Amino acid sequence: MCGIFGYIGKKENSLEIVIKGLQKLEYRGYDSWGVATEIDGQLFIEKKVGKISEAKTDDFHDKKCQFAIGHTRWATHGGVTDINAHPHFSSDKTIAVVHNGIIENYEELRDELGRDNFISQTDSEVVAQLIAKFRKEMSFKDAVLAAINKLKGRYAIVVMNVGENYLIAARRGSPLIVGVGDGEYFLASDIPAFLEYTQNVNYLDDDEMVIVDGNVEFINLTTGRSVEKRLINIDWKAEGAEKGEYDHYMLKEIMEQKDSILRAINQDTDEIMHIAQQIKKSRGCFFSGCGTAGKVCMAGEYFFSLIANRHVNFAPASEFPVYHHFLRPESLLVVVSQSGETADVLEAMDAAKSKNAKVLSIVNAEGSTIARQSDFSLHIKAGPEKAVASTKAATSQMALLMLIATAMVDELQEGRRQLAEVASKINDMLNPRFLTYIKAVAEKIKDHENCYIIGKAENYPMALEAAIKIQEVSYVHAEGFAAGELKHGPIALVTDGTPCIALVANDEVKNDTINNTIELKARGAHIIGISPEKHEVFDDWIKVPDVGIASPLVNIIPTQLLAYYIAVLRGLDPDMPRNLAKSVTVK
Ligand code: AGP
Repeated sequence: MCGIFGYIGKKENSLEIVIKGLQKLEYRGYDSWGVATEIDGQLFIEKKVGKISEAKTDDFHDKKCQFAIGHTRWATHGGVTDINAHPHFSSDKTIAVVHNGIIENYEELRDELGRDNFISQTDSEVVAQLIAKFRKEMSFKDAVLAAINKLKGRYAIVVMNVGENYLIAARRGSPLIVGVGDGEYFLASDIPAFLEYTQNVNYLDDDEMVIVDGNVEFINLTTGRSVEKRLINIDWKAEGAEKGEYDHYMLKEIMEQKDSILRAINQDTDEIMHIAQQIKKSRGCFFSGCGTAGKVCMAGEYFFSLIANRHVNFAPASEFPVYHHFLRPESLLVVVSQSGETADVLEAMDAAKSKNAKVLSIVNAEGSTIARQSDFSLHIKAGPEKAVASTKAATSQMALLMLIATAMVDELQEGRRQLAEVASKINDMLNPRFLTYIKAVAEKIKDHENCYIIGKAENYPMALEAAIKIQEVSYVHAEGFAAGELKHGPIALVTDGTPCIALVANDEVKNDTINNTIELKARGAHIIGISPEKHEVFDDWIKVPDVGIASPLVNIIPTQLLAYYIAVLRGLDPDMPRNLAKSVTVK
């Protein structure tokens, strides 16, 4: 996933605007960055390896221009080098392009265009070279249209042409949003890039392009006809997308769970009841998501079984093909995704729709591709989640799944009350003393290279989710297990002092979990018990509120904080872990 951004308008400091916008998209990719514009009739490009946050806008202050494009990269094709950074440009330096996605037929296009003309190892460079080739015979707009028709794969692109005072953008399978300001326009992968200038947006849909000069024109790439778009006002505030007084977005977003859960359950009653009905009447209900969102789906399996007495099938989106032959028009696929752009989830949705099954999506990014391609979509309203590690989105997604489960047994009001109480208890739990205590526990285990987490029933998915959190920000080899599975192999891994986290709730499986924890202790493990009550087997006890079946929502939060503090104590940046991207928009 990468961040792309373009500006065109009356201001003459376009390069500074684009660099500041890219800095707000840094979470989408942070191995290299670049900007392009036209100065004195010539293409101007600056691009390099490194984080966009290190770029100095003052360096561009004297370069007056009224449009510019930029890119912050997460490398897919081609190593992390200055040459492979975007923007990419044509050999005649008349066309520059920034691209997010993957051009699947780039090798074939390189052959067609002549490999000697290429200077980078990327797929993206073919877009610039292709447009320039057509531009020799036709207008800028027609050249972009002709080039796009030859591209296979997923892309969002913003293009400029020296000598033309307008920008063109297009998308298929990767996000692109148009920010509409006062006589100025922004073209971005995500809203935070231009939120300080405008909250009015148009969403570009797949196979659409937009031409932006003093006006904005949307064109359907299939019909070639103009498309009318409704202006949408986004109720996010610019400061909501910033770190504020926190050292990292990850900590800020963990702390926001005091409020985000309340927003998630604040849904239209009729809509929730309608969705509950859709699930009840479906024949074959499948849950799917990736990574953390996948573990949320697994927790949903337990909520639906224990609360709604409804059997659902979960598969990680990348494994969903195993269920394709069960899909039929009466089936329902429920997908969960924070970004609403995850490629594997989009592929699972395509499979469901190919069998005329219905799709319900639970997303954080309103207007995202997944949201707009679903039959029904619920917005968790968690606000921008910029840390690569998903935290507040996960608890909000689980809260919403639990709420739907209560609606299925006509207990929606009680479910809402229960979850509001959970939110209030989380608010009390997330106090400075709690954070200090967890940091002290993290200090004890930060130097261990292995860490195990166990949970049972609805806390088993949380054991797996805790492992992802610790893995992705601290690089510690963490593994989650179903507590009852230890004796079937994993317990052989435990040696003296191995940190083991036990997720315990006051539920009917509590004693089993404690017994499994005692087995770990007997082999020398250092036990960190996350539980409403203390137990002598715990070496460290992290007290959490007793919230019954909603225990996943509270038990996961201390593990988020442990992951955060272990990363910070190991001198790492939890917001931008190596090798990862906030949203995996490529397969
Ligand atoms: C979560 O901390 C990870 N960053 C990752 O597993 C993530 O949950 C996964 O890529 C799914 O993303 P999505 O929710 O945006 O679809």
